[in-house]
Amino acid sequence: MRDNKTSQAANEYDDNVHKTIPRYHLFHEETLDIVKAVVPKPQTWLDTGCGTGTLILKALACFGTMKIVAADPSESMLEIAREKLMNYDITYNQVSSEALCGVGIFDVVTAIMVHHYLDKELRKQATENCYNMLKQDGIYITFETIKPNTQSGTQIGLQRWRAAQLRNGKSAESVDKHISRYGSELLPITVEEHIHTIKQAGFTTAEILWVSGLQAGFYGIK
Ligand SMILES: C[S@@+](CC[C@H](N)C(=O)[O-])C[C@H]1O[C@@H](n2cnc3c(N)ncnc32)[C@H](O)[C@@H]1O
Repeated sequence: MRDNKTSQAANEYDDNVHKTIPRYHLFHEETLDIVKAVVPKPQTWLDTGCGTGTLILKALACFGTMKIVAADPSESMLEIAREKLMNYDITYNQVSSEALCGVGIFDVVTAIMVHHYLDKELRKQATENCYNMLKQDGIYITFETIKPNTQSGTQIGLQRWRAAQLRNGKSAESVDKHISRYGSELLPITVEEHIHTIKQAGFTTAEILWVSGLQAGFYGIK
């Protein structure tokens, strides 16, 4: 059973995510790169919506051992993350971002392709929770599917996203099914709304990290 809000079952996620999300690998590369610039030696990292644990594995390779919390509401995603990270001492938490609670002990909080499933109120709550989990000067990084500013921009973006998935070998039927989630199961907001949400949560720095097509990354510094 699919319990993760993506279009794939947990055990199919790693093999298929690249076909569905163009430039997916760049989200992790850009995340590690901005962390290097802002917190060169992170000691504590929370990855909310950690999925199958791929970013955590890359963060450990990049920064070495640190205290890591892997959070995700999906039991099946966490199960795969546990297997992938079996050689590391990781704390697992089956919880969604909007229900996260705790004090600010983290240098880094990441939410990669996670909060676009939430409506505005829950996304606001999720972003505030990420802010609260950070230490002063800590960094929050989020990547999401975004909403262009115009109807025609949205149509062009969806047309390009559809073509990219077909080029990646997905069937027309599965691509159409995936694209039909935009605006119903996927609830994107504009770049401006992202910056506003990050500032509203209390971050003193709120910036665009990366944009291509219908996906973008943002960061906030507490
Ligand atoms: C597209 S996957 C991204 C996984 C991972 N961050 C990555 O970079 O591959 C989305 C993940 O977000 C999780 N998720 C869905 N809703 C969530 C929420 N409200 N809070 C936290 N995680 C959520 C899903 O279970 C899934 O593991």
